[in-house]
Amino acid sequence: MVRAIRARRSWRRPAAASRVDLRPVAFADGLARNAVGGVGRGGSRAGRAPGRGYDRGMSHDPFAHLRIEYGDAPLPFESAPAAPLPLLAQWLDEAAAAGVGEPNGMALATVDADGQPHCRVVLCKSLDERGIAFFTNRLSDKGAQLAGNPRAAATFWWPAPRNRQVRLTGRIELAADAESDAYFCSRPRRAQLCSAASPQSRVVRDRDELEGLVDALAARVGDGPVPRPAHWGGYRLVPEAVEFWQGRDGRLHDRLRYRRAAAGAPAVGGAWSRERLAP
Ligand SMILES: Cc1cc2nc3c(=O)[nH]c(=O)nc-3n(C[C@H](O)[C@H](O)[C@H](O)COP(=O)(O)O)c2cc1C
Repeated sequence: MVRAIRARRSWRRPAAASRVDLRPVAFADGLARNAVGGVGRGGSRAGRAPGRGYDRGMSHDPFAHLRIEYGDAPLPFESAPAAPLPLLAQWLDEAAAAGVGEPNGMALATVDADGQPHCRVVLCKSLDERGIAFFTNRLSDKGAQLAGNPRAAATFWWPAPRNRQVRLTGRIELAADAESDAYFCSRPRRAQLCSAASPQSRVVRDRDELEGLVDALAARVGDGPVPRPAHWGGYRLVPEAVEFWQGRDGRLHDRLRYRRAAAGAPAVGGAWSRERLAP
């Protein structure tokens, strides 16, 4: 099973968040705000624009009263597949069908040589029996962190109407050159030029410097193909644990964790244990 994740024209726009509590909430400063921080009618202070906490030099708390109920769709433990990646594929499809803009976006956490974690969003571009793949500049900060410590965590989050999260932890492998070539070639030419020219994670003087690097590369390659730089390519997160989280009303959520029964066991197949975790 090899699945490439592509944008689909048929994906609908994200549905509006459902059941956000917009009732006015009285704050200690006398302003009435709704749950997402909007100031209610009549909420103003003389000589000062009505604003959120950060306008007034206070802590920023407009979300303190934000409440969304997640619905009561259960995570079907009994019918869950024996291995996690088919379920991840299904949830990605369902997030796409629900109109989530980039359902393959995932927060990727890595750890540097000082033990400091770093987290950023990347796009999962394929998933198969080995794990999930993403592409980046291997000379970037994340690349350096993965070279020193080839372990990572990734988290997908799909808001309403799905209200789901999937977390993966495991080790990192380099994607084969052929796989990196194939993905690089599939990208629009402008994306090829920009990703090949950009010294990702390095400090640059200004936007002109970046555009100059792209223009210089474009001039060098002319009408020919943009070669994939050796430092740009794929990584695969080979999961050892995968947790599925389904938000449920009242915050009594469902959590299903798969753990690989033995190191080296395939990511699909029966070599996984399944456990329910408390929310
Ligand atoms: C929605 C979204 C998708 C992104 N996808 C990628 C990606 O697939 N690959 C990538 O290298 N950076 C991607 N980025 C940028 C990264 O978040 C990050 O800025 C970049 O990789 C540099 O990270 P680093 O300095 O920690 O290495 C994406 C950012 C966002 C917000």
